[in-house]
Amino acid sequence: MEVKVRRVEGYIVFDSRGSPTIEVSITSERGFRGRFASPSGKSVGKYEAPPLPKDGILGAKKIVDEANKYFHNFSFSTQAEFDDAIKRFDGGPRYERIGTIVSLGLSFAAADLASNEGGIPMYKWIGGDIKPTFPIPICNVLGGGKHALNRSIDIQEILVFPLNARSYRDAYTSTLEVYRKVSELLSDRDMFFTGGRNDEGAWVTTLTDEEAFDIVWDSVDRVRSEVGVKFGVGIDMASSSLWDVESKVYVYRRSGVNRDREEQIEYVIDLVKKHNIQYVEDPLHEDDFPGFSYIRKRLGNKVLVVGDDLYVTNISRIKLGISERAGNAVIIKPNQVGDVSTTFQASKSASEGGFKVVVSHRSGETHYPHLAHLALAVEADMFKVSPVYGERVIKHNELLLIEDLYGSRGVKRIW
Ligand code: PGA
Ligand code: ZN
Repeated sequence: MEVKVRRVEGYIVFDSRGSPTIEVSITSERGFRGRFASPSGKSVGKYEAPPLPKDGILGAKKIVDEANKYFHNFSFSTQAEFDDAIKRFDGGPRYERIGTIVSLGLSFAAADLASNEGGIPMYKWIGGDIKPTFPIPICNVLGGGKHALNRSIDIQEILVFPLNARSYRDAYTSTLEVYRKVSELLSDRDMFFTGGRNDEGAWVTTLTDEEAFDIVWDSVDRVRSEVGVKFGVGIDMASSSLWDVESKVYVYRRSGVNRDREEQIEYVIDLVKKHNIQYVEDPLHEDDFPGFSYIRKRLGNKVLVVGDDLYVTNISRIKLGISERAGNAVIIKPNQVGDVSTTFQASKSASEGGFKVVVSHRSGETHYPHLAHLALAVEADMFKVSPVYGERVIKHNELLLIEDLYGSRGVKRIW
């Protein structure tokens, strides 16, 4: 199948945080259309590709107008062909000229267009004729850090994930139960709880870390006895946000404690052991490859040690991490690198190197389901998307629809 581009349009729209982004729309010669608007992060890794061109969102809009001329009559029959053209259009190695809001907008809009024109689901356009097992949803239920103005717990996210769900529907609906239980228990135990939630829809509490973990474990235990689904608990420390480059300490604003590298390592290991945690993301800042290796060694392979800011979906960083055994899992966020094919290759190099793949949303999301297709296309092990808020639910709903339409192929097992 060959798709011929007729027109590329860009509109300034807003993400779930109300920050501007660009909705890219591509129309083909045969009159089909594909669309996408890129999400944005708040705890952004310093090695991420830049989201915007030099002159900001207005500059990005102008670049899409330029893309309209560049891509007029351009034909492609694979996603890689289209993405290579975006790279040529940018002219550099990492979308510094056009920004990832434009590059990923173009790339996912092209994937959407091709799957519409070809009448195939987007995950098959990206990943080929595969029958993927569904990823395990991993959901932020209690949040702090930068996503909650540093006024809640210092840990950015406490996450839950079902371990023995029979289908994605079973996995997602039982996760929603945990999410609801957490708010019930917060209403009972946190007298300042007003039902407040953070950017990603996770509950925000004024309780201590200790009490927060108790609430999450109690919620998980109750759901297990009610519906029979067992859960694991995870954390995203988002340590690059805690790290002070000048004084070389991790600053815990809420608890008023500073930890140097060694103290941080011991603190994380204790936290994991004490609270029976099976998933720990960014336990250290984005430059500490040896620290990640050491923590993985100490925790063993039963605990996923996951790099987000460390890897930024970048193939060379992932390859380095695999050779150093810096963790055993990687976060994949398409807007960290800026196109679908590079994201696909990054997750393939991770899984070929024995790392688990966690496809993830951003805290500022847009109302598109495309990330769900990407997760299936790369045969991701986990799908890190909060359980509520429309821009997140649309992604879970997409997986539910695919499951209903084509039948369940079960959910991944890691533990
Ligand atoms: P961000 O954070 O989307 O705000 O960058 C999410 C994360 O750290 O996983
Ligand atoms: Zn993270």
